[in-house]
Amino acid sequence: MPESTNQHRYPIHAIHAGIGLSVFKNASEASQVVATEIATLVRERASAGKPCVLGLATGSTPMGVYRELIRMHRDENLSLRNVVTFNLDEYFPMAPDAAQSYVRFMNENLFDHVDVLSENVHIPDGTIAEESVGKFCDDYESKIAAAGGIDLQLLGIGRTGHIGFNEPRSDADTVTRMVVLNSVTRNDAAENFDGLENVPHHAVTMGVQTILNAQRIRLMAYGEHKSAIVERTVCGDITESIPATFLQQHGDVRFLMDDAAASKLNLSNTSK
Ligand code: PGA
Repeated sequence: MPESTNQHRYPIHAIHAGIGLSVFKNASEASQVVATEIATLVRERASAGKPCVLGLATGSTPMGVYRELIRMHRDENLSLRNVVTFNLDEYFPMAPDAAQSYVRFMNENLFDHVDVLSENVHIPDGTIAEESVGKFCDDYESKIAAAGGIDLQLLGIGRTGHIGFNEPRSDADTVTRMVVLNSVTRNDAAENFDGLENVPHHAVTMGVQTILNAQRIRLMAYGEHKSAIVERTVCGDITESIPATFLQQHGDVRFLMDDAAASKLNLSNTSK
C-alpha cells in the first residue's frame, strides 16, 4: 500500500471548545451536508407524525442549503408540510415586499418552491408600530415555545461576531427584541441597500438565549473574510463582545466551513 499523501481529505472534522468543526472542499459540499441533515430530521419527524421546527437564517450563506432543499423537494419527494419555521431576524422598519426584506428573501429562495404551509412560517414583522414591537417579540418567543422549541437552528456569522442580529454586547440571556445595528453590519449591508444611508438602523432579532435553546445549531461560514471571526469565536474566551462565543456553551453546535473560512484555525491541534 502506498503511503497516503499529505493532501487534504475532505471533509476534515475536529472539535474545539465544545464546537464541532467541519471543513469542506467548498460551500456547495457543506450546504449539501446541512440540507441532508435537515431532510433526514424532517422525514424522521414526519414518520412519527410530528412537526419539525427549523430556525432559519438569511444572507448569502444559507442560500446553498435552500437550493438543495428545493432540489430534494422536486427530485426526491421531500415534503416540508410538517415543518414549522422561525426566522432569526428582520430589519426594522422593513416592508415585506421591499428588495431587502427577509420575508421576500425567504419566499424567493425557499418558501415559494416547496410545500411548507404558510401558517407555519414565522418571520419577525418589520411593519409593526414601534410601540407594539415589545409585545410582538414576546409573542414570537411564546410561539417558539408553543411549537415545542427549535429542533435545528441554521446560522451564519457576521464579521462582528453577531448571530442573528445579536451585535456585540448582546448577552447570553437575551431573547427576541429590537436592536440597534452595528456600523460594521450596516456597512456590510450598504451595497444591498444602494448606499449606507438607506440601511435601517434597527432590526428585530431572536436573542442569544433563543438561539442557544435550539436542540442543534449548524453555523455555516464561507470565505476568507469570515476567517478572523471564526478563529476568535472558536479559540477565544466567551464574551458578550463576540456574541457567537456563547455557542461554546451549547453542546450540539457544528461549524461547517470552506477552507478559506477555516484558514486561521489550526485544526491539526484539535482532537477528532
Ligand atoms: P452573510 O451574512 O451570510 O451574508 O455573510 C451572515 C451574517 O451576517 O450573519
